[in-house]
Amino acid sequence: MDWKPNWYAAGLDHVWLPYAQMKTAGSPLAVARTEGCRIVLADGRELIDGIASWWTACHGYNHPHIRAAVERQLATMPHVMFGGLVHEPALTLAQRLAKLLPGDLDRVFFSESGSVAVEIAMKMALQSAINRGEPERTTFIAFKGGYHGDTTGAMSVTDPDGGMHDLFGGVLPEQLIVDLPDFRDNISALEFVVQEHGEHIAGMIVEPLVQGAGGMRFHDAAALKHIQEMAQACGALLIFDEIFTGFGRTGTMFACEQAGVVPDIITLSKALSGGTLPLAATVARKHVFDTFWSDDSKKALMHGPTYMGNALACAAANASLDLFQSEPRLKQVADIGRQMADELAPCRSLTGVTDVRVKGAIGVVEMERIGNLAALRARFVEEGVFIRPFGRIIYLAPSFTIAPDELSRLTAAIVKVVRDGAVMRA
Ligand SMILES: Cc1ncc(COP(=O)(O)O)c(C=O)c1O
Repeated sequence: MDWKPNWYAAGLDHVWLPYAQMKTAGSPLAVARTEGCRIVLADGRELIDGIASWWTACHGYNHPHIRAAVERQLATMPHVMFGGLVHEPALTLAQRLAKLLPGDLDRVFFSESGSVAVEIAMKMALQSAINRGEPERTTFIAFKGGYHGDTTGAMSVTDPDGGMHDLFGGVLPEQLIVDLPDFRDNISALEFVVQEHGEHIAGMIVEPLVQGAGGMRFHDAAALKHIQEMAQACGALLIFDEIFTGFGRTGTMFACEQAGVVPDIITLSKALSGGTLPLAATVARKHVFDTFWSDDSKKALMHGPTYMGNALACAAANASLDLFQSEPRLKQVADIGRQMADELAPCRSLTGVTDVRVKGAIGVVEMERIGNLAALRARFVEEGVFIRPFGRIIYLAPSFTIAPDELSRLTAAIVKVVRDGAVMRA
């Protein structure tokens, strides 16, 4: 369909779109509205959303409970600065997060995006070392296949190989990017690096159980336990980036619960506000916070995003947490996982498929190669679904409220398009 609203033609030449070669990326879809698990386009077409707006809209779009909470907050106070001032939505949210998170992860530092939450976690680890009298701890260990965001520090701990940030090799701070321990031969890689560089390591950062944007790769609890042991052995802080995995995505509220590991710092965002407003949190354990607690003003954490603790976003997040309490989200995640495992299984025998895997509400079909990503994405739109493959990966990470028949439309579209094969070869 060719119809486009006036705002589309008037504005398109003035926006710069994410992760896009603007010359060749093709025209983005014009969206009129969203409802439940559907994206309604300006020309009237409806797409079933397979990735919940970059994994944020865990309760579907426009959930009435979140909408009502945001509307109430809008009438009272959309925003007030967090410097020297606090308010009920942020303090209630901080307390609720502290209760939900395992162990003594109980000091919440708010920000507005995942990348910034990672920057703050890194700054906490660096300054905690300085405050403890160990300023030589200036380096991070991160893991191959990892992705932690697009800002400078976050890029430096993202795997540069084949990732989005390989252009910036000589410019970013140099970190140590090692293989994830897999209990065959790679344990020694981390052990070796810790032996060599242990006293210079401020922190180790990992996405627990699932590395998302780096390729939807899964690892197990034993790997995380080993990373924790190595972090403790060399006196580095352990940072779990649960920006993707947090809030039920892997089957438990937080992935770290399955690993039985309490990190020193955890980062949260994406589904934190139920996909409604930008919000992120960096949460520290008491012993980390204590390294900043001092009569010396130089030991304070010098960070403070302007929109930190935004009241509307915190109200949305509180309403989102209500829904995790009042509705059976983790059961829905388990049901989605089972259905995806059944319905994506036929892909295993299709030409070009190297793996099919499911964890929680994440379903992955990995290909030998995808010839033309833009054409593949367009093929899915023709099938009435919004799925955004990347690299060699076709994946689903839908809203937890998706109906079984909607999920079947998503999985059927994947099976059909992969079987057809044309776009993969292009
Ligand atoms: C694990 C992880 N960390 C950090 C980020 C960056 O978050 P944001 O895009 O909100 O900056 C992402 C985004 O995909 C992510 O998946």
